[in-house]
Amino acid sequence: MQNVSFDFTGQTVAITGGARGIGLELGRFFIRAGAEVYLMDFDADEVGKAAAEIGAHAVHADVSSTADIEQAVEQITSETGRIDIIVNNAGILRDKVLWKLTDDDWERVLAIHAGGTFRLTRACVPHFRSQGFGRVINVTSYTGLHGNTGQANYATAKAGIIGFTKTAAKELARFGVTVNAISPNAETRMVASIPDGKKAELAAAIPLGRFGDAAEMCSAVGFLASREAGYITGVVLPVDGGISI
Ligand SMILES: NC(=O)c1ccc[n+]([C@@H]2O[C@H](COP(=O)([O-])OP(=O)(O)OC[C@H]3O[C@@H](n4cnc5c(N)ncnc54)[C@H](O)[C@@H]3O)[C@@H](O)[C@H]2O)c1
Repeated sequence: MQNVSFDFTGQTVAITGGARGIGLELGRFFIRAGAEVYLMDFDADEVGKAAAEIGAHAVHADVSSTADIEQAVEQITSETGRIDIIVNNAGILRDKVLWKLTDDDWERVLAIHAGGTFRLTRACVPHFRSQGFGRVINVTSYTGLHGNTGQANYATAKAGIIGFTKTAAKELARFGVTVNAISPNAETRMVASIPDGKKAELAAAIPLGRFGDAAEMCSAVGFLASREAGYITGVVLPVDGGISI
């Protein structure tokens, strides 16, 4: 998949959940656009392999751990002197109807999606402030906008990310930082884990008639991360074949 050309030469990008799926495609995209890329993931083996394959740096970090996140930001900023763009993309599913959800299903999903987004953004604020520049791109979901049976935990986390995006956009604007979100729809491992019947139902509801490819998420993220998008903040951009219309 060929993307619109962007130039991120001299910029440092950190992508959570970078071992596979959308995160890994974003890593490829930012490498091609000249950035120094750090793929962060709690899957140490896969993130090591993915980073070696695309020419990025691998950081073994669990976004639900403040210590891991702070250590990762310390490593990235001491190696490159900066952190310009973060993509809060790491995520898991623990789908069940709400009366079957355990406390752990609830807490883990919130701690990773919403908590991880908060933790990495918070850890980067001192660097964004001293640079007078930063780009935060969060990854929400159609489910956070509209709800979805079996995903009360995920919907809550993804809706929370939208509230966080808008609040952080207001708080960080004074430091030259924009905070936006994408709502993707891409055929990844996460989609493969959806039962076939449900998946066919979802595909049929997409106006463009198919799931997207992870690489099709990149131009939207690249645009929001670019200096040219500096007057856009607090938006949620669906990149979803029209499913959220
Ligand atoms: N694929 C879609 O259609 C779709 C739709 C809406 C939203 N999303 C969101 O996009 C993001 C990426 O999804 P994907 O489809 O590429 O999924 P994926 O399962 O292919 O990749 C997710 C990555 O996150 C990592 N991860 C999970 N928990 C982590 C943690 N605690 N710390 C660090 N890394 C962790 C996993 O190891 C994995 O590499 C997720 O936030 C997901 O909710 C995806």
